[in-house]
Amino acid sequence: MRTLGLLTQDVFMRAQLKPWQIFEVNLLGKADMDIIVTRQLQTLIRGLIIIAAITIVRFLYSGYKPTLPHSLLFGHIPILLQFRKHHPEDVHFGIIMKWLADNCPTWIPDLHHHHHHHPPPVLYLDIWPVFPDLMMMVFDGNLSAQFTQIRSLPKHRITRTFLEPLTDNLDMTSADGKQSKVWRSRFNPSFSPRNITMLIPELIDEIVVFKELLAGMAGPHGQWGDVFQLEERTTNLTFDVILRATMDERLHEQINPQGSPLKQALISQIRLMSKVLGLNHILGIKRWPWDSLTRARNNGALRKALIGHVQDAINKPPDRLADTDTENNKKTILNIALSRTLAETGGAAPDKRDIEAILANLKLFLFAGHDTTSSTICWMFKLLQDNPGCLSKLRAELDDVLGTDPNQAASLLRESPQLLNNLAYTNGVVKETLRFYPLASTVRQGEKDFFLTLPGSSMRYPTEGTAIHDVPSVIQLDESVWPRANEFLPERWMAPLGDPLHPNKDAWRPFSMGPRNCIGQELAMVEIKLVAALLCRDFDVREAWDEWDVRRGGVVKREMVGGERLYGCGQTVQHPKDGMPVCVRRLL
Ligand code: HEM
Ligand SMILES: *[C@@H]1O[C@H](CO)[C@@H](O)[C@H](O)[C@H]1NC(C)=O
Ligand SMILES: *[C@@H]1O[C@H](CO)[C@@H](O)[C@H](O)[C@H]1NC(C)=O
Ligand SMILES: *[C@@H]1O[C@H](CO)[C@@H](O)[C@H](O)[C@H]1NC(C)=O
Repeated sequence: MRTLGLLTQDVFMRAQLKPWQIFEVNLLGKADMDIIVTRQLQTLIRGLIIIAAITIVRFLYSGYKPTLPHSLLFGHIPILLQFRKHHPEDVHFGIIMKWLADNCPTWIPDLHHHHHHHPPPVLYLDIWPVFPDLMMMVFDGNLSAQFTQIRSLPKHRITRTFLEPLTDNLDMTSADGKQSKVWRSRFNPSFSPRNITMLIPELIDEIVVFKELLAGMAGPHGQWGDVFQLEERTTNLTFDVILRATMDERLHEQINPQGSPLKQALISQIRLMSKVLGLNHILGIKRWPWDSLTRARNNGALRKALIGHVQDAINKPPDRLADTDTENNKKTILNIALSRTLAETGGAAPDKRDIEAILANLKLFLFAGHDTTSSTICWMFKLLQDNPGCLSKLRAELDDVLGTDPNQAASLLRESPQLLNNLAYTNGVVKETLRFYPLASTVRQGEKDFFLTLPGSSMRYPTEGTAIHDVPSVIQLDESVWPRANEFLPERWMAPLGDPLHPNKDAWRPFSMGPRNCIGQELAMVEIKLVAALLCRDFDVREAWDEWDVRRGGVVKREMVGGERLYGCGQTVQHPKDGMPVCVRRLL
């Protein structure tokens, strides 16, 4: 308890002080600083002030004694640098969590005296200015439940900053509390398991295109084909799926070599959004002047691609049509949310503000739904490659439930979408994939007088002033909660209550939990399960690093994380390294 006991008052005195507030003075007056030179000068001056401020802040709070060794001047930055030193440059920041949890005992030698399990339930990390607030990393499902389920704390303010260029904060994730609730509840019915099941025939159309493309990449006569980046294909697939599911539009991203204006605009916008994180956030630079043009152009392109569908849906809401499956009567995510909106407003047509909010939410779905899902599909193929026994069992289940002819599977599932619910092992494969590779997680805003507590312990972990990070990448591999945690065991998802393998519900949280969890989780699960069901009996997929290295001229750094060439990269969502180079062969 001693180490943790140190972590009381003084930490949180420091946490309450938001360092950037000290120097967030508009030095050059309130004039519009559109002139680039002025901007850069401002940046330079802010930079200098920051260096001074770091020194002052950390000096003032020299009483701060955290669990990890803490430098007066640099906080935990040295630990961050140590992480960097032992990892490739492009490694995803999220990987640091597991590394910290695993290496805790080297910094906190008396840890095991106080905890039956390692890692510790909570770790505080001060890496200002890389992350603006004191980070509170939660490594225990019981504690995570306290700020997402038992109480659902608001999302951290950085979410707002991040999404602003895309949605002007009109979307359900970053709008203020009331608007957020309104739109979340209007869209909730669209994503219910029953209504997502009704979309399965449309999703299958898109996945069949994906399957044909993979067949084209396979070699002749059951041989391995040339190396290619699987993630490019899965990303195009998830774009097609999300457009189909939200608006019944066929985007044909998978077969359009140019790429649609919609995808181009979204990808460009995401690149621009990533810039507001990190140092720029601290410097108070939300937008570079030269970026606002790009931002406006991207939003223009997105609006152009989406607004027609919104108008059409408003003009022909499904409720006013006969209950037949005509073109205009598809129960898309948009249609269902619109009829819900109409029901709430007593049939009055949505006004301009509503339309803007609907657009913002559609953009949010495109953003949140494409790369998480596409990367997860890649990781699933990786794990099946590494666990051939599981791949065999998966194939056996598909034979059982969908018949032994893989070519019949698509039409069978189109006719009887509920068959997907009979694929318990397949479901387990996807859930295990998300257990090993949770690619996103929630960050909430800590509050005064709100503490996290461990059952049966008097320790209270303050949250005030912190950014509370739910850390599924640690929680989901915790051996004290997950028997045989490091084994890929789809069977655990079929284990009945009382079986030691039966999963603890709070310990699996790749979609977060509670009222602000992932609204799209059912869509994602169904999409990934369909990919498994429709492709796994037709192809073998393997990582192809040797071929990839040759393709790139042989003189490449063979970087690894945890002994794997395939590791998580990128700025926002984790992407598989180099888009996961693979070879594919057809099973004859
Ligand atoms: C495997 C795929 C996916 C994973 C791992 C994932 C994960 C997550 C996580 C962890 C959150 C919580 C984030 C936070 O609190 O800031 C979240 C939120 C969200 N996700 Fe997903 N997601 C996936 C697929 C999708 C899809 C397909 C959609 C399509 C609509 C989607 C839409 C959203 C939205 C709108 C939110 C915000 C909900 C709110 O603020 O109330 N996600 N997702
Ligand atoms: C939560 O605490 C209970 C009681 O201590 C324990 O049995 C359970 O495994 C814990 N759950 C998680 C997710 O850690
Ligand atoms: C499914 O969509 C319909 C509208 O088509 C809606 O009335 C219903 O509430 C939704 N189902 C669920 C379970 O939310
Ligand atoms: C799919 O996406 C990639 C980039 O992610 C792009 O280069 C490719 O041209 C797209 N389309 C096709 C038909 O592969």
